[in-house]
Amino acid sequence: MTRTTDAPPAPPPRPRRRRRTSLLAATALLAGAVGTGALTQGSATAAEPGCSVDYTVQNEWNNGFTAQVTLTNTGDPVNSWDLEWEFAGGEQVTQGWSAQVSQSGTTVTASNASWNGSLATGGSASFGFNAGSAGSTSVPDEFRMNGVLCDADGQDPDDPDDPDDPDDPGDPDDPPGDRVDNPYAGAQLYVNPDWSAAAQQGGAPSSVYNQPTAVWLDSIGAITGGSAGSNTMGLQDHLDEALAQGADAIQIVTYNLPGRDCAALASNGELGPEEIGRYKNDFIDPINEIVSDPKYADLRIINIVEVDSLPNLITNVGSSPTATPECDEMKANGNYVEGVGYNIGTLGDNDNVYSYIDIGHHGWIGWEDNFQPTADLLFEAANAAGATPQDVAGFAANTANYGATVEPYFDVTDTVNGQPIRANSSWVDWNNYVDELSFAQDFVSEAAVAAGFPEGLGAIIDTSRNGWGGPERPTGPGPTTGTADEYVDASRTDRRIHLGNWCNQAGAGLGERPTAEPEPYIDAYTWVKPPGESDGSSEEIPNDEGKGFDRMCDPTYGGNPQNQNNPSGALPDAPISGHWFQAQFEQLLANAYPPVE
Ligand code: GLC
Repeated sequence: MTRTTDAPPAPPPRPRRRRRTSLLAATALLAGAVGTGALTQGSATAAEPGCSVDYTVQNEWNNGFTAQVTLTNTGDPVNSWDLEWEFAGGEQVTQGWSAQVSQSGTTVTASNASWNGSLATGGSASFGFNAGSAGSTSVPDEFRMNGVLCDADGQDPDDPDDPDDPDDPGDPDDPPGDRVDNPYAGAQLYVNPDWSAAAQQGGAPSSVYNQPTAVWLDSIGAITGGSAGSNTMGLQDHLDEALAQGADAIQIVTYNLPGRDCAALASNGELGPEEIGRYKNDFIDPINEIVSDPKYADLRIINIVEVDSLPNLITNVGSSPTATPECDEMKANGNYVEGVGYNIGTLGDNDNVYSYIDIGHHGWIGWEDNFQPTADLLFEAANAAGATPQDVAGFAANTANYGATVEPYFDVTDTVNGQPIRANSSWVDWNNYVDELSFAQDFVSEAAVAAGFPEGLGAIIDTSRNGWGGPERPTGPGPTTGTADEYVDASRTDRRIHLGNWCNQAGAGLGERPTAEPEPYIDAYTWVKPPGESDGSSEEIPNDEGKGFDRMCDPTYGGNPQNQNNPSGALPDAPISGHWFQAQFEQLLANAYPPVE
């Protein structure tokens, strides 16, 4: 894969202070650097060795866990390091990164990688590992760097407000600023006043307009001045307002890659295909500057990363009938991968940022040919431009799409007259999934892990517009006496003309109200696309946002290979994407499922 030459070199890894997850009872911060007076190896002068260790269990599951370790050299400079500790509870290291992590008996040794062996005084290196366990693990109580004990009794002297410091009486046990597995769990989410006002004015009851929705940063200007349509607040306004609301978490969508929306026109963006430099310097860096303000340290910032971008490089390239020259170009120049890596790597330096990478939806990535390759490409991006897989909190499914969360009346394994519907229904058409929940669960637990991501990540599902209630909603399975098509078409709640339709879909309703931890592997059902904001104009409308006219938003269009030449199913009279579309909002309220009260 080629890279642009204007891309600055990846920034050096910065020290991170990841803390243990809420699954565990207490945090051990082993710090404080006490020199023992021993000589460092090979040194002719009496050097003062010293070290501190921040050891964090990031994820824990039934029989294993992921830990992240930051070693800080508080003594004289070293050229290489070995960090050693004992596992007392039967834990066994299976895989390490950014260090060689090996285990002999109960002794674990982590040796620097080729690029992080030199540590100046105050310098630090971070590495991580996965380990199997007999069901639980505790934080080791002693660490030695190059044989020298890192003292265990102190706190980080540079961080007097460390919320994990057990000696600080002002801090509760597990304040919201702590790193957690699932940032949605137990969290009060930020309600965007811009959207809330539009929804209230649009006729919604408070059970709708008081719901949290994501803030879309869809241009450089949106960082300071509000995104498309009736949005007015910049990022800092939103974060300040989140503090004022007493919110624990805010959801942002970072959506401004070079050559954005390469397979469609409705959400084309402001940056040309080669403008990766501007993406980094003028978009991600300024966002990071705002987000890293210590006053937001206790606010979880959920970052939904670049909707539709990487999936487009799987399906809409090369010899595929849906290929576009724009997606071929973005695959060849590497700027989607580079941009996503830079995004999560840069923002991931903040302990309170949780990045979810977009995985499309079941009606796109659910086919065998697309599923694992998507996970593999995401893993590549999670290792690009300074990112590591530890910068990924999970994956975002169905963002701004219409796939049902669960199809209650039929299953992909069903048969009609002995014939599997998977092979015989044109709606299913060999897909392995018929709904978002099963798709997202398998993506997290199977494809992502096979690609190299740690176990224990989660997915979020955008349920803002996948409700499919109203009079057309079936109340039970269709007949099994006719064809597979008759059975599926009568059973499915998703009333789209074709699964590939995506723009302002007629008949859709609001889906599940935002809910944390609704199902295994699912961090949340959440409203990422703000209901009422258009997906694209139904005819050409000149604008200064870079948005094009995509005929998939035109109700008179007969379709293309994306939807196997079916009508688009789009509502008429739509404004450009991101702008308020009152008729659509009214339909979403009317067809909500569960219904709106
Ligand atoms: C579309 C638009 C973008 C908007 C978002 C949320 O992707 O292109 O401008 O912010 O939807 O409505």
